[in-house]
Amino acid sequence: MNPVLRAIRERRNNVNFKPIPIANENLNAILEAGRWAPSWTNSQPWRFIVVKDEKIKEKMSEAVSTFFKMSLREAPLAIAVCVNPELDPFHFVEDGTTATQNMALAAQSLGLSTSWIGVFSMRNEKNSTERKVKAILKVPKKWRLISILPLGVPKFKQRQKRKDLAELLDFNTFHVMEEKERLLETEKTSKVTRKTLVPRSARELGTGIV
Ligand SMILES: Cc1cc2nc3c(=O)[nH]c(=O)nc-3n(C[C@H](O)[C@H](O)[C@H](O)COP(=O)(O)O)c2cc1C
Repeated sequence: MNPVLRAIRERRNNVNFKPIPIANENLNAILEAGRWAPSWTNSQPWRFIVVKDEKIKEKMSEAVSTFFKMSLREAPLAIAVCVNPELDPFHFVEDGTTATQNMALAAQSLGLSTSWIGVFSMRNEKNSTERKVKAILKVPKKWRLISILPLGVPKFKQRQKRKDLAELLDFNTFHVMEEKERLLETEKTSKVTRKTLVPRSARELGTGIV
């Protein structure tokens, strides 16, 4: 498997990190990966805030939901991904996520790990985590905060799984899904293994991976 595919395959969300600082060289490479992410009309509406200050990190950890407190406390640093909707009024959320994912993958490729904290508030509510963290980081009102990415050396290997490709895949038009749902339903009742559907999809795709 080539290194890009391996990083994609092996990246997992981690909330536990070892108390090891991140080398500047690695941090720089990760931020560069964010900078090279695609964005609508190449608008590059980003601002990446690297937070190393323990007091600020602690304040952020108090603002996010319980599960993530740990990752912000344990990670030696976190990258907050902000976007300016004035530079991209149409796809600023996706712009923020392409950069976030690029950085998560770059971290993985360097033997590091990240914990994706999605803080963007669709309705931009006053009491949202996004607003609270924006205030802590002094992010101007017109900017939006998409994600926070605690970064560090992982303590454990995570093993989240994925659905089979057959469940996610259609050919030509979406309505093929109905047929697939029927097939999956049949699978449940007839105990046909899910594997029998995957080769079928692969054959349709013409990949030869059967
Ligand atoms: C846009 C986005 C927002 C996320 N926000 C949260 C979150 O608020 N809470 C959470 O537990 N995990 C969050 N995550 C992490 C996902 O839960 C995690 O990626 C998913 O469970 C799959 O696990 P894996 O990344 O380890 O494969 C987010 C991931 C993405 C892509």
